[in-house]
Amino acid sequence: MRGPSPGSDGPGARGPDPDRESGAREILIRRIRPTEWSQLRQVRLAALLESPEAFGSEYAAESGRPDSFWQEKAADGAGSSDAMTWVAEAPDGRWLGITAIHSWEGLLHLLSVWVAPAERRSGIGRRLVAAALDAADRRRPPVAVHLDVNPRLVPAVRLYRSFGFVETGVVRPLRPGSSETRMAMVRPTR
Ligand SMILES: CC(C)(COP(=O)(O)OP(=O)(O)OC[C@H]1O[C@@H](n2cnc3c(N)ncnc32)[C@H](O)[C@@H]1OP(=O)(O)O)[C@@H](O)C(=O)NCCC(=O)NCCS
Repeated sequence: MRGPSPGSDGPGARGPDPDRESGAREILIRRIRPTEWSQLRQVRLAALLESPEAFGSEYAAESGRPDSFWQEKAADGAGSSDAMTWVAEAPDGRWLGITAIHSWEGLLHLLSVWVAPAERRSGIGRRLVAAALDAADRRRPPVAVHLDVNPRLVPAVRLYRSFGFVETGVVRPLRPGSSETRMAMVRPTR
């Protein structure tokens, strides 16, 4: 685990920090644009390299995908209601985080949640997840949102619990043959 240890209350971790808080407010949370496939590839590969224990997919597999894969993913993430992607954009245009919601076999899944390590604990992850869940909550009929999370990743588990996700009791290997696990969580319909 990189960054503050799980549950850490180190300096500035929880108390008010006006600089970081005002910085977080300047960060824009928005849907990806269809032309932004190259930035999507960059942030997704950065996430897979930095947090391999967080995702079912691996850098080695995704780094070999052709441009057309990322072009399609960006186009879907921007335009489809079944595969929406949000990014956190700094005032200088850098992407600091990402998340997505996919509809798959009739269920909605929250996926790919990641914030760049230097930007963590300033509210970006919460804002990304809130944007995705707002979109989920606008669907009719109302739908539950599912996700899988490595239970070792305490920051992520705490974040999801704070949005009303609860464990379903289903725990599987993170990847075939992996000693890491992923536990299923669900946020019931609102
Ligand atoms: C999980 C992650 C997205 C959180 O992003 P973040 O921008 O740091 O989160 P926020 O600052 O918005 O914090 C939101 C909540 O997450 C939890 N949280 C975040 N960091 C935490 C930490 N170090 N320790 C404990 N809880 C933490 C808290 O509940 C926090 O709410 P609080 O500030 O009111 O206590 C980020 O740590 C990350 O990218 N981790 C690696 C990738 C990953 O685990 N992705 C999840 C895949 S399922």
